[in-house]
Amino acid sequence: MSALLIFDEEGRLLEKVEDPQEIAERLSDINVLFERWEPSAPLNEDAGEEEVLDAFRDQINRLMIRFGFQSCDVVALTPDNPKKEELRNKFLDEHTHSDFEVRYFVYGDGVFYLHPNDKVYVVHCEGGDLISVPPNTPHWFDMGESPNFKCIRLFTTPEGWVANYTGSDIAKKFPKYEGIVSLD
Ligand SMILES: [Fe+2]
Repeated sequence: MSALLIFDEEGRLLEKVEDPQEIAERLSDINVLFERWEPSAPLNEDAGEEEVLDAFRDQINRLMIRFGFQSCDVVALTPDNPKKEELRNKFLDEHTHSDFEVRYFVYGDGVFYLHPNDKVYVVHCEGGDLISVPPNTPHWFDMGESPNFKCIRLFTTPEGWVANYTGSDIAKKFPKYEGIVSLD
């Protein structure tokens, strides 16, 4: 189930929110968009990029107009990917980027750790969830040891997603994907 876990900077759990509407409200306080989307037609897990984008065309267009996104694509990762460890490690340290990062989980899941102030907002996203990371907000992401997801990504600039690592080791104080999933 989708969940928001709020921690202090030492990794102590302060609060847990499970109702999607309440998750959206709590995240909007830190400028993060959280929405639940339904496809306009049923989708199989093996649906191609165009079919996936078509099924969410209205929602994508709404965000493109609202935020000025220039492009979108679909990425998928499965547990048999030989580069899964390398890919996982890339996002495990706290970083920022100038792009407004937006991800919609068509299926599967992943854990976002957002660090906009003196708290860390950990969001376990699952199929049907959309989340944004505002520009320049410190964050990290864990897809787990056996990543399994398909996501729609929206971009404002082709190079905006390049990660600037903050050099902080705060991520090490927090449970990884497996630990978070077991908490919610
Ligand atoms: Fe990121």
